[in-house]
Order: sequence, then structure tokens, then C-alpha cells
Amino acid sequence: MKLLFATVLSSALVAVAGLCIGAAGTTITLDQLNKAMPVRSSDGSCASVSYPSECAPNSRAVAAINAAIAKYGVTQRGEIVALVSLMAYESANWAYNINHFPGRPGQGTRAMLMYNFIEKYAQSLYPAEAAQVLAGGSSTDAQNNVRALVLNDNDSFGSAFWYLATQASSYHNSAAKLRSSNAEDFKDYIVNGVGAGWDNDRQATWESVNAALLI
Ligand SMILES: *[C@@H]1O[C@H](CO)[C@@H](O)[C@H](O)[C@H]1NC(C)=O
Repeated sequence: MKLLFATVLSSALVAVAGLCIGAAGTTITLDQLNKAMPVRSSDGSCASVSYPSECAPNSRAVAAINAAIAKYGVTQRGEIVALVSLMAYESANWAYNINHFPGRPGQGTRAMLMYNFIEKYAQSLYPAEAAQVLAGGSSTDAQNNVRALVLNDNDSFGSAFWYLATQASSYHNSAAKLRSSNAEDFKDYIVNGVGAGWDNDRQATWESVNAALLI
């Protein structure tokens, strides 16, 4: 199926294969997220993970993801699929909000950004609070406290979108990158845009999300 994007539709809202594409109204649905990540389709599924307080069911995730899509203006289907896939992999389907293995100070959000990016992200959203936390230096505690500023759902699910739009912007709204249903483009983003390792689970996660968001 050929997909049309906001760049050619301007403000028109068009439902394409269940994904609403439009500069002001792109959203994913809970139904789509449940198909992509059935393990988190029930709100009760978070009771059985290692850190229940960090876990979010799809019902919370979908609201925060849609807020991030609007906030960062990410309307290309390939980009949305890539970011949802990246976050699902990094957070083990929304089970983790901070790094536990090995437990790097300051690393977290659903995209598991390393602390140097967490600091930039928190400074961009909460400059006064971040400056206050860091006034005494960048100790382990300070790094964790900076991270705490961005662990709420909107900011945590938003970090992957912020990263794409501001730290890897050559991948954003590009005719040659993160094209819809293109696994090689996703791999290129993970390896060269994010600087993370590639493995079969990333591919499987992307395939599941890509299939679900086509419905
Ligand atoms: C998350 O973002 C949405 C959309 O901007 C907003 O309506 C909602 O209040 C935010 N939630 C919180 C807890 O700030």
C-alpha cells in the first residue's frame, strides 16, 4: 500500500491504513499498540514485572506517545514505527524506566538514553530545575535526580522523539531515511543515528510494530 505523508497533504487529515496521517492530527491507537505489544495490553500485566512501579501498560503508553508525536511534529509513519520499536526494545515493553543492568547512573526513559543525553533533554525541558540539581556538581545522585525530572510518562515516552528531532535530525523528515516499512532504514537509524547495537530482537520488535501500525 502506498502511504501519503503530511509533507504533501499539509493540514489535511487522512486516515491511511488505520494510522491517521496529518500535520496536526497524527495518532496511533490503543488497538494498534495492543497488537504490536500484546504483553502490555492489560493494565494488570505490570503487576508481574520486576519493578512494577516503573511499568506502564499500553493504555498509558499510547497517550504519551501521541502527545510526543504532536509535540515534536513527528508524522512520518516510518519514523513513528522506528521510535515505538526502539522504545519497546529498550524498555522491555514498557517494563523499565531506568537502567538496571548494570544500573548506570542517570540512564533512563523509555528510550534508555545515556546520561549525557538525559542531561541535555532535562535541560531543554526544565532548565531551572536541572541547573539547581547540577549546581553542586554531577555526582551519581545528581545524575539520578536529573533523570527523575524526565521520568513522567509524557517526557519518558517523549525522549525518543526529542532525540530524533534534535540530536539525529538528519533522520527526521528525510526522503531517504526511516522510510515506511523499511527494515534497513530502521537498522541504519539504530546503528548510525543512535549508536546502539543491532540484534535479532530489535528486528522482531520492529516487525511486530510495523505490522500492527499497518492495520
Ligand atoms: C501529557 O501531554 C498531554 C498532551 O500535551 C497533556 O494533555 C497531558 O496533560 C500531559 N500529561 C501530564 C501528566 O502532564
